[in-house]
Amino acid sequence: MRTQVAIVGAGPAGLMLGRLLERAGIDTVVLERRSAEHVLSRIRAGVLEQGSVDLLHRAGVGARVHAEGLAHNGVKLSFDGDAARIDFPSLTGRHVTVYGQTEVTRDLMDARNASAAPTVYEAEDVALHDFASTRPRVSWRQQGQQRELGCDFIVGCDGYHGVSRASIPGDALTIFERHYDFGWLGLLVEKPPVDDELIYAHHQRGFALCSMRSHSRSRYYIQVPATERTQDWPDSRFWDELRSRLNPEFAARLQTGPSIEKSIAPLRSFVAEPLRFGSLFLAGDAAHIVPPTGAKGLNLAMHDVGLLADALIEFYSEHSSAGIDAYSGRALSHIWKAERFSWWMTSLLHTFPETGRFGRRIQRAEFDYLVGSTAARTSFAENYTGLPG
Ligand code: FAD
Ligand code: DHB
Repeated sequence: MRTQVAIVGAGPAGLMLGRLLERAGIDTVVLERRSAEHVLSRIRAGVLEQGSVDLLHRAGVGARVHAEGLAHNGVKLSFDGDAARIDFPSLTGRHVTVYGQTEVTRDLMDARNASAAPTVYEAEDVALHDFASTRPRVSWRQQGQQRELGCDFIVGCDGYHGVSRASIPGDALTIFERHYDFGWLGLLVEKPPVDDELIYAHHQRGFALCSMRSHSRSRYYIQVPATERTQDWPDSRFWDELRSRLNPEFAARLQTGPSIEKSIAPLRSFVAEPLRFGSLFLAGDAAHIVPPTGAKGLNLAMHDVGLLADALIEFYSEHSSAGIDAYSGRALSHIWKAERFSWWMTSLLHTFPETGRFGRRIQRAEFDYLVGSTAARTSFAENYTGLPG
């Protein structure tokens, strides 16, 4: 079996890359360790930058985000009870779109299933071979049978725990990372959101985020120690804790109900450089992780594969390797700006007991500066809605 580009991972990055290449007439095979149902059951990001929405349209799957995505012109930030709103259009001329990662994945999966492009779900023991050469191969096991695929390129879109980055010799990668001592406990509920915009709240008990998936479905998060387990958080405990961290006017409007989903995500900042080793490229969470504050993870993954698709299309249509040679440098320049913003927003809004009273005063000063300065609010809006490039 042979293809042009073997894609490891059918998350949003792998499926988007597959779709963009398919539309350019480039053959791909996508190999995914889990079932399609499992991939769709993971509740993750919820906010799309315009660049990600544009990419969905370019991939020919923009109809549903256009019809069902919610345009958001601002976010609310609160700090120990004081609230402020950042208005995106007046500061940047842009907005963001609330549309769940599950829906992005579903749209891309449906399009791929409707085409002849092959996807192998439940591919076990995926292994990458000879990618230092120009004749790489991928092998896997499927229902007890060993399979192999020859290709021109392998793209690792298999997330943080995937096999692709782990296959690159350690001395060929430089890792930059930062761990946080806390995670986000997230809950999904079939109730209208507290507000028509997202609320990011700093409280001395910890960070809280009020988000949504639609006018009738809400997504809430609270900062919890990294050691917490979901079974210790019955719904009533979650709601009490969330309410205690919100400004009274928001808390009064909170509509609670039984959770549809509840999970804890650890927070980390992580970048592996470079994003290319021979015929193997890395994209999305396989190469970098941001803490979720700022909603950049999914958007970064989309940005990577947009660049890589253009580079591979140029390689096949113009026989030029300029694009694939430039991919790592171009993507990393964008990635580091999102790493910076996500780290900064995490630092502003979470509690860090180890930084003491001084640390809290600095956070307060940062919040006051943000609220009081048009330059600071413009910088926030420009980063949140998505930097160009
Ligand atoms: P993934 O979505 O991780 O997809 C990788 C795919 O590769 C998966 O389907 C996986 O099963 C598959 N795979 C893994 N290993 C192998 C293998 N060996 N062989 C074959 N396939 C393999 N971002 C936000 O902006 N906001 C959020 O609230 C948010 N919450 C998150 C919560 C969690 C628990 C996690 C893990 C991430 C969250 N993110 C969030 C980040 C965002 O979801 C990711 O940035 C986004 O999913 C990246 O897409 P991806 O396609 O690169 O990786
Ligand atoms: C959501 C997640 C985020 O990380 C964020 O910053 C905003 C919204 C969400 O899941 O809705």
